[in-house]
Amino acid sequence: MKVAVVGATGMVGEVMLKVLAERNFPITELLLVASERSVGKKMIFKGKEHTVIGLADAVAARPNIAIFSAGGDTSLEWAPKFAEVGTTVVDNSSAWRMDPTKKLVVPEINAHELTANDKIIANPNCSTIQLVMALYPLHKKYKMKRVVVSTYQSVSGTGVKAVKQLENEIAGIQGEMAYPYPIGRNALPHCDVFMENGYTKEEMKLAREPQKILDDRTFSISATAVRIPTSGGHSESVNVEFENDFELNEVRRLLNEMPGVTVQDNPDTNTYPMPIYAHDKDEVFVGRIRRDETQRNTLNMWIVADNLRKGAATNAVQISEYLVEKGLV
Ligand SMILES: NC(=O)c1ccc[n+]([C@@H]2O[C@H](COP(=O)([O-])OP(=O)(O)OC[C@H]3O[C@@H](n4cnc5c(N)ncnc54)[C@H](OP(=O)(O)O)[C@@H]3O)[C@@H](O)[C@H]2O)c1
Repeated sequence: MKVAVVGATGMVGEVMLKVLAERNFPITELLLVASERSVGKKMIFKGKEHTVIGLADAVAARPNIAIFSAGGDTSLEWAPKFAEVGTTVVDNSSAWRMDPTKKLVVPEINAHELTANDKIIANPNCSTIQLVMALYPLHKKYKMKRVVVSTYQSVSGTGVKAVKQLENEIAGIQGEMAYPYPIGRNALPHCDVFMENGYTKEEMKLAREPQKILDDRTFSISATAVRIPTSGGHSESVNVEFENDFELNEVRRLLNEMPGVTVQDNPDTNTYPMPIYAHDKDEVFVGRIRRDETQRNTLNMWIVADNLRKGAATNAVQISEYLVEKGLV
């Protein structure tokens, strides 16, 4: 497999390289791609030095797979150029996610939809992936009606610039700002840009992407997305109303049986998921599982995952592994 990692120098790109190495993805040639600013820069993969190249050179090399994490504009412009030369693109940006001609894939849920004709495949938003990983087994059993989710999102979700802003604030350095306000000791109810309806784009991704992934428009999701000064992963407080009633022990069992999900839920031992422990792990952790005592058939839970791993790199590499395994690339 000739593999291109587009956005190799970024926050997701760096974790992408780590995950590709850890999972021993079958790479015969690796192309590290970034903006013109980084062309010529040296990076190490599995002990070997690689030189960062530009997008046009990467297209000319006709890789089998190109994993993009370089922003929506880069994906919109360049993913079709790769697809034209026969490359399959797995894209981490929001550029193609809601395009009805493109698949939006969480491998544990809907990789079976993929065919060799899918030349641009979308990776869902980080906070969507961890949400649907927990909702999917419960939806199959109890049928969701409505979900209310509030997120507590890590600065690593915004990229290199935001992590630097937080580090600068902690060190008392006046530096470049990724956010309109300080993030240290703060909570910003503002992830991504505001839309005309008053929601942010992140909130609308959370509302719409799960319906596409689960191929079901019968349930609705209302979201509030908040940025907080953590860096290990995103957390979500989730309230789900089902059509059918549930037993809490069965909910825990269904979540534990879901590949990629781990239940951490024991109030007696203060056991619940937290970003500092989810950091650098591939699993989606679920805890604080309890009945909403104010409404029938309604559940509360707390979901945490590393946004750079299952929320981005791991999911994209799992899609790529599936393509290789099924001979689709
Ligand atoms: N962070 C997350 O948790 C997360 C999760 C899911 C999806 N994503 C998506 O992944 C993408 C990257 O996010 P990030 O957090 O890694 O951002 P980042 O740290 O800012 O990195 C951006 C990467 O894109 C490259 N890039 C920027 N403009 C480019 C251009 N015109 N041509 C080629 N490469 C270009 C940068 O290269 P230079 O170093 O040369 O500037 C860098 O490698 C975004 O689309 C984001 O929405 C992020």
